[in-house]
Amino acid sequence: MSSKIAGVSALEILDSRGNPTVRVRVELDNGISALASVPSGASTGENEALELRDGGRNRYGGKGVLQAVANVNNRIAPNLVGWEAGDQESIDRYLLDLDGTPAKANLGANAILGVSMAVARAAALAKKLPLYTYLGGTEAVRLPVPMMNILNGGKHADNSVDFQEFMIMPIGAPSFAEALRYGAETFQALKQILAQKGYATSVGDEGGFAPNLASNEEACELILAAIAAAGYMPGKDIALALDPAASSFYENGVYNLSKSGQGPKTSRELTGLYEEWIKRYPIVSLEDGLAENDWGGFREQTAILGGRIQIVGDDIFVTNTRFIARGIGEQTTNAVLIKLNQIGTVTETIEAIKLCQQAGWGYVISHRSGETEDTFLADFAVAMGGGQIKAGSVCRSERIAKYNRLLEIEAELGSKAVFRNPLPLNKLRNR
Ligand code: PGA
Ligand code: ZN
Repeated sequence: MSSKIAGVSALEILDSRGNPTVRVRVELDNGISALASVPSGASTGENEALELRDGGRNRYGGKGVLQAVANVNNRIAPNLVGWEAGDQESIDRYLLDLDGTPAKANLGANAILGVSMAVARAAALAKKLPLYTYLGGTEAVRLPVPMMNILNGGKHADNSVDFQEFMIMPIGAPSFAEALRYGAETFQALKQILAQKGYATSVGDEGGFAPNLASNEEACELILAAIAAAGYMPGKDIALALDPAASSFYENGVYNLSKSGQGPKTSRELTGLYEEWIKRYPIVSLEDGLAENDWGGFREQTAILGGRIQIVGDDIFVTNTRFIARGIGEQTTNAVLIKLNQIGTVTETIEAIKLCQQAGWGYVISHRSGETEDTFLADFAVAMGGGQIKAGSVCRSERIAKYNRLLEIEAELGSKAVFRNPLPLNKLRNR
C-alpha cells in the first residue's frame, strides 16, 4: 500500500511549563495521519540544535514558536508532499539540507524534529506496526529501567539544593510494571517523610519534590529512608542515580554550590565529593557531574569512578555524533544521555545511539524538563534497546504518559518482554 505524504502542518501548543512548543501533523495519501509534539529543556547544553523562538515581548514573553510553525507549513510541507513516509533517513537528510546550517538555525530544530517524529509515527501506522517495532524491528522487546527523578533541585526548582536531579532506579524489579510500582510507592513514602519533617511537598518541573533541605546530602538520606519505608532494599531493589547538571553551577572556572552554601569546588574536589557519596550511598549512575566544557575533568572522573558506576554525558555530548566520537576516543565518560531535540532528527539520534552501541557504552533515552503528552519517547526507548529511560518522577501526566505507554508495550509484548538491570553487576560489587 502506498503511504506517500499528502500534507504536513504544524500548530503552536503549550508544554508542561506552559511555554509554547511545536506540534506537527503528517497526513498520508491513504488517509492515515499522525501527530508529534516537541519537548523543550531548561538546563540546555550550549551546543544543542537551535530551538527557534519568536523573540520580542508581545507574545509569551518572546517564547512563541509561530516562526517555527510557519517554517513547517510554508517551507517544509510543500517540499515533502509525495515522499514515501517510510523513507525516514532520506526525509531527515533532506530536512538537514533544506535548513543548511549545523545548528538547524534556519528552520529551527523544533520545526524539523516535529516533522521527523510525525513522519516516523505515520509510517508505523501505515505499516500497521507499533512505533517501537517499526523503529526497532521485531527484536525490540527490551523494556527500559526507569530513572525516576523524585527530588528536584538546581534549575528545576526554587530551593536550596544545588544538584538538579535525584533519581531512583529500580534495578532489582522483575518487570517494568513492578519497577514503576517500586518507584511510585517510594515516591509516596518520600512525600510522607517530607511532610513529617515539615518540608514542602510541592513538586518541581519533572514532578519530583522540591523541598528546602539543609544540604545536598540530605536529599540522598531522605530518599534512602523512603526506599526503606516503602519496603525495599536500597542498592538491591532500588539504586540511586544523580544528574547534578553541573554546567548550571559552573561559574568562572569553579563549581559553585551556592544554593546549599557548600561553596566553590574545583573539578577534582567535586569528583572527590562524588566519590565519597558513592561510598556512602548506593549510587549507580552519575550524569553531568561536571560542566559541558570540562572534558579533562570528565576524563579524570571516569578514570576514577567509571569502573564502579555509569558516568553519563548529557550537555557535553548533546546527542551529537561529533562530540560522542570525541568522547569515545578520549574515554570521557562511559555512557551518553540521548535527547531527540538536542540534535533534531530521528535519524541523527539513532546514529548517536549506534556510536554508543559500537563502543560498548551505555545510553539513556531521555525526556526534557518541558514535556508534552506525547509518548514517542517510550516507544523510542524500547526500539533502541539500551535498557534505560529517564522520564521524570512518578507524578504529573506528561511524565506518567510515557510510563503508561511502557506499561502498555510490556503488556502487548507479553512473554517476549525482557526487563533486566542494564548496569553490569561488577560495577555495583567493586565498590
Ligand atoms: P533539561 O533537563 O531538559 O532542562 O535540559 C534535563 C537534564 O538535564 O537531563
Ligand atoms: Zn542532564
